Amino acid sequence: MQLTRALSLLLPLVATVSASCIHGTTFHRRSSNVPVADYSFTGPTGPLKWATLKPEYALCATGKRQSPINIDSTISVAQRTVVASFPNVADAEFANLGNTLEVVVDGTTTFGQKAYTLKQYHFHTPSEHRIAEEYYPLELHMVHQAADESLLVIALMFELTEDNSSFDLLTATVEDIETIAVPGTTTETGSLDFDELESIINTASFRTYVGSLTTPPCKQGVRFLIKDGTLPINVATYKRIKSIIKFNARYTQNALGQNNLLA
Ligand SMILES: *[C@@H]1O[C@H](CO)[C@@H](O)[C@H](O)[C@H]1NC(C)=O
Ligand SMILES: [Zn+2]
Repeated sequence: MQLTRALSLLLPLVATVSASCIHGTTFHRRSSNVPVADYSFTGPTGPLKWATLKPEYALCATGKRQSPINIDSTISVAQRTVVASFPNVADAEFANLGNTLEVVVDGTTTFGQKAYTLKQYHFHTPSEHRIAEEYYPLELHMVHQAADESLLVIALMFELTEDNSSFDLLTATVEDIETIAVPGTTTETGSLDFDELESIINTASFRTYVGSLTTPPCKQGVRFLIKDGTLPINVATYKRIKSIIKFNARYTQNALGQNNLLA
């Protein structure tokens, strides 16, 4: 723990590689240091300019199935069964990648007959998807990859509570969040118990569509499963997360199949 902390102080100096929502998958393998994103959510390196930053980010302007979108009645209810199995861990790496805060974990989710391996989960504030036009304070993305390299993201919306309740897994994840205020630094989560989340996922209904990564390279063909309903977050936890992430939501994209707004 102390060694990790000490090393993490050096990381901003060596962090030059790009990071994204596919961090940790075969499309962007994790390195031993913590890479920081080469794009942002503001101005000349923000979402309106992502496609111009690198040739490999071109889909951010030309892709016709981009995410996030507004989830309306045209987005179908998932008919296949979703079964999640995430092992509990005493702690996990929790990294500030500049564009998001990410937790490295294992697990498996099956969607119908197809198995996907959980690679990491990360946060967006405010939410990227909107549900019937409404945004939420926090959206969690659980990024999975199948043996054929295809990607599946389980998206969980959080809503502020009036009774100060918060989802335990969220509270445990961000236990030490103040120590990773600087992009490129890592810490560890508290003890992560996925039992409640598993049972929520295994009994929930989902909206599903095939869109894209919401960050460069905006790769298409990403299966989203957006859980109906919300998980609880209290004001104190929300403010702590927001003060570190600040803002990392791509603007709502055109309806699926339509020309990209930037094309
Ligand atoms: C609400 O919960 C937070 C922990 O998430 C705690 O620090 C705070 O004291 C609680 N506030 C009230 C009013 O109970
Ligand atoms: Zn994401």
